[in-house]
Amino acid sequence: MKIYLAEHRGFCYGVKRAVNMAVSAVASNCPVHTLGPIIHNPQMVSHLQTQGIGAVDNLEDIPAGKVIIRSHGVGPEIYRQAEAKQLDVVDATCPHVKKAQQAAYELRQSGYQVVIVGEHQHPEVRSIVAWSNEEAQVVETIAAAKSLPFYPRLGVVAQTTFAANDFEAILSILKTKCEDLKIERTICTATDLRQQAALDLAKKVDIMIVVGGKNSANTTRLASVCQEAGCKTRHIESAGELKPEWFVNVQNAGITAGASTPEWVIEEVYAKMEEMNIGNVAKLEAGSVIKGTVVGIRHDEVFVDIG
Ligand code: F3S
Repeated sequence: MKIYLAEHRGFCYGVKRAVNMAVSAVASNCPVHTLGPIIHNPQMVSHLQTQGIGAVDNLEDIPAGKVIIRSHGVGPEIYRQAEAKQLDVVDATCPHVKKAQQAAYELRQSGYQVVIVGEHQHPEVRSIVAWSNEEAQVVETIAAAKSLPFYPRLGVVAQTTFAANDFEAILSILKTKCEDLKIERTICTATDLRQQAALDLAKKVDIMIVVGGKNSANTTRLASVCQEAGCKTRHIESAGELKPEWFVNVQNAGITAGASTPEWVIEEVYAKMEEMNIGNVAKLEAGSVIKGTVVGIRHDEVFVDIG
């Protein structure tokens, strides 16, 4: 069995930045909390806990010290409350999310009805709604777009992780719902790159292992993309969930991971798959790379190129 890594996988820029900011904050010897889990990955959240970084749901639960705003961002009221409590704010909001928040704020200030194309309950969307003074409409589907009334001026902002194709389809409806449409294309390329790389690999391997939190929307979406490509797909959070029977008669296996999956978790999955591989199949020639990075080829020809 050859094991391939998707060309784009794992931590995106915004998540990497947020985790680094959290780890640096702990060096200051005062209590450090994140407002909500810093990323949708249970291993990373427990790892940070061992470093002294707790996760709370409300500012009321933080008596003093530092509060880390995660990459999804928060609304203006949270900054005000943190200031009133004299907390030291470490703002790890992803710059792409900041741009979407700013766009919603400015559109509303300029008299547009703001429409956010995204998932209602996603924390990032909640934060963008807050920057529109809680006045934005959230539209997740074509049906929801069709049900909107007619507005003279509509300003559209996208959830950064929304699928680009779905966004365009919803836009085509929104164009019929107003006289003046202003579009802010705030989708971040990290999601698209990961989905495209997963799809490319899924089309060429016998099984895709998708690594990441079960509560991570972008990891779940990666698993659906692989499945929709007709590839046998398993979504796991850690190496311990891998089962040897998944790899019976498998010649080529692919690994991808969501934007909130740490590299060490991917490495553990790779190592476990290689362990299962040893002695399992006859020697294979080191063949050409399908797409992505070949990280392991059988027992006596092992390449490791993770990172
Ligand atoms: Fe930021 Fe894009 Fe990641 S918006 S948090 S870099 S998926």
